[in-house]
Amino acid sequence: MNIDEIKISKATSRDIGRIVEIEESSYKDPWPREVFMVDYLFNNSAEYFVAKVKSKIVSFIGIWIEEAELHIINLAVDPENRRNGCGRFMLSFAIDLAKRRRIKQVYLEARKSNDIAQKLYFSCGFEPIEELKEYYQDGEDGIRMSKIISMDEEPNI
Ligand SMILES: CC(C)(COP(=O)(O)OP(=O)(O)OC[C@H]1O[C@@H](n2cnc3c(N)ncnc32)[C@H](O)[C@@H]1OP(=O)(O)O)[C@@H](O)C(=O)NCCC(=O)NCCS
Repeated sequence: MNIDEIKISKATSRDIGRIVEIEESSYKDPWPREVFMVDYLFNNSAEYFVAKVKSKIVSFIGIWIEEAELHIINLAVDPENRRNGCGRFMLSFAIDLAKRRRIKQVYLEARKSNDIAQKLYFSCGFEPIEELKEYYQDGEDGIRMSKIISMDEEPNI
């Protein structure tokens, strides 16, 4: 996969099946299809975007826009397409979306053990702001990270 081939678009309800496939191959405690459907259909603050390469979905990102904040609730890349810059591209997309909408803060949570995701977030300017005790269903702690958006910076993409 070449990063230049990636096209990001708003997810449609037809994309949920593929989103669930990527979710299931990415997490040991994946969200079930119904949770995605309810969030997609009924949560007015939720927005989902997919990254396609030659019309195949290789990644998705879910965000909630909450007042002055953009909360990244999910980001995953199809295992076969990882380490090609797609995760960083999706994160940059969300940061640029925040800039375009004049949102000043982006935040997200990650498992304490998820070094890969934390490395990505650190490298994109996120900083830890809160330890989340037993945040996940299996009792693992989480970490909340945030990035303050500078309106002076040009959007990346
Ligand atoms: C986290 C995730 C989205 C990263 O996607 P990706 O497309 O592989 O990431 P990128 O290729 O854009 O890499 C961006 C940075 O992440 C870090 N990274 C990615 N994969 C890594 C790995 N296997 N080992 C160490 N660091 C890694 C590196 O810092 C990398 O930058 P670099 O290439 O300059 O070293 C992907 O691993 C994934 O879907 N994981 C499962 C779901 C998940 O954990 N989501 C995050 C929930 S908080």
